[in-house]
Amino acid sequence: MEEKFVLNIIDKKQVPEAEPERQYYFMDIAKEYVGQLSKAKGSPLTFHVSTFGCQMNARDSEKLVGILEKVGYVEEDSEKADFVIYNTCTVRENANNKVYGRLGYLNGFQKKNPFMMIGMCGCMMQEPTVVEKIKQSYRFVNLIFGTHNIYKFAELIVTAIENSFGPKLGKKADRMTIDIWKDTDKIVEDLPVERKYSFKSGVNIMFGCNNFCSYCIVPYVRGRERSREPKEIIREIERLVADGVVEVMLLGQNVNSYGKNLDTPMSFAELLQEVEKIEGLERIRFMTSHPKDLSDELIEVMKHSKKICKHLHLPLQSGSSRILKVMNRRYDKEHYLELVEKIRAAVPDIALTTDIIVGFPGETEEDFEETMDVVRKVRYDSAFTFIYSKRTGTPAAAMEEQVPEDVVKERFDCLLKEVQQISAEKAGALMGQILPVLVEEQNGQDERLVTGRLSNNSTVHLPGSTDLIGKIVDVALKECKGFYYLGELV
Ligand code: SAH
Ligand code: SF4
Ligand code: F3S
Repeated sequence: MEEKFVLNIIDKKQVPEAEPERQYYFMDIAKEYVGQLSKAKGSPLTFHVSTFGCQMNARDSEKLVGILEKVGYVEEDSEKADFVIYNTCTVRENANNKVYGRLGYLNGFQKKNPFMMIGMCGCMMQEPTVVEKIKQSYRFVNLIFGTHNIYKFAELIVTAIENSFGPKLGKKADRMTIDIWKDTDKIVEDLPVERKYSFKSGVNIMFGCNNFCSYCIVPYVRGRERSREPKEIIREIERLVADGVVEVMLLGQNVNSYGKNLDTPMSFAELLQEVEKIEGLERIRFMTSHPKDLSDELIEVMKHSKKICKHLHLPLQSGSSRILKVMNRRYDKEHYLELVEKIRAAVPDIALTTDIIVGFPGETEEDFEETMDVVRKVRYDSAFTFIYSKRTGTPAAAMEEQVPEDVVKERFDCLLKEVQQISAEKAGALMGQILPVLVEEQNGQDERLVTGRLSNNSTVHLPGSTDLIGKIVDVALKECKGFYYLGELV
């Protein structure tokens, strides 16, 4: 028999309709419930958010943390916390399997802790088959929600607590709270947000994706592309800066198509120019750039900017024009190489990084050689290499000629070796220079050192105290060890 810890259920007579007021209303109720639970437990309730996947998910997790702290939960660095949330990714199949594996393990903790709730959110939850599987085989999960309604997390916490610890408890079907939306055009501003670092923050400039690359599940789980109003973005960054942030990372699945659906359309390059004007902001990064939409205007803005970091992540996916066409990427090998040339001419010491998929359906040895050719020509500072993963519902999943596993593995190893070799050769290119470093944290291995990043995103270790964290300091790059620099303050 499960215990009912929350008996004092609040009568929600005056729930505001409008957002974000509605969520602030539910935050107060959640706070009351968390208070009741903490009292029953005899100590404050704790939470732990585990994040899988990309920067979007990382930013969403910060939003969850902001609300959890606001309603009285205390962060704990362990999955034994009273509220464990998995913010999931489904971009490749193995990401999903990892989550199922760990769920069983969480159930063990939950059996020992009567106050424990398990929440699941993120991209995996936007897949109906996943939710069905959890409903069937993982009945102990307390809350499931998706990527579109994350803004109503406070409201969801209230429902989940009522269903898990309130008077309705015992009716089996009620224990699990599920709220998934297929898509939305809603963007709710002004909710509380925590951030992991005091001095840098991600900032969503848009949500969703309209590109439908034929292998990719993201458009199905993140919905249609929608941009935030520039004034909201600027306002958020101004507030962050006032709160000590010096670096922002502008986030979107394809930042280069920012602003197309706004009432008054604005290009990404124009937005960057506005962000550049914000006083006190020192560094601007962005992620991700789709090659098909990378404009000359953007390259020009990057060339003249004092704040945009010298790093561009430009996913290639494949070097074969034939495969790129079937992938629906809408650029070809020549266009990609031209872009790289233009960018390097405009910003000579820019670091270029990329994503590459090996084993897309129908990929021949010749196609793969084209990818290797681009890798050798561009010489990326680093590259994320992925084995193609079949995602049900995407056009590529239905394509014949899936490449045999052993062939893919062989190509993957060959590519990995090449990109690693090139990265190693390129590391250390800035040796001897004095460059600004944003100090981010104390070094994990040696507490006499702190660790930070150059504008091009390379890591630098230097002797120094934790007072330097969050500051941009000039560092002489003295030595290069593997992929890191060792430097000294000047
Ligand atoms: N919006 C970004 C990428 C988001 S997903 C962009 O367009 O660049 C991150 C990376 O995962 C992609 O760049 C791609 O290389 C990889 N990826 C996406 N779907 C995949 C799949 N089905 N199999 C293997 N890798 C995949
Ligand atoms: Fe996926 Fe393509 Fe959209 Fe990137 S641009 S998220 S790879 S569909
Ligand atoms: Fe994964 Fe969703 Fe990002 S599927 S890569 S977490 S948008």
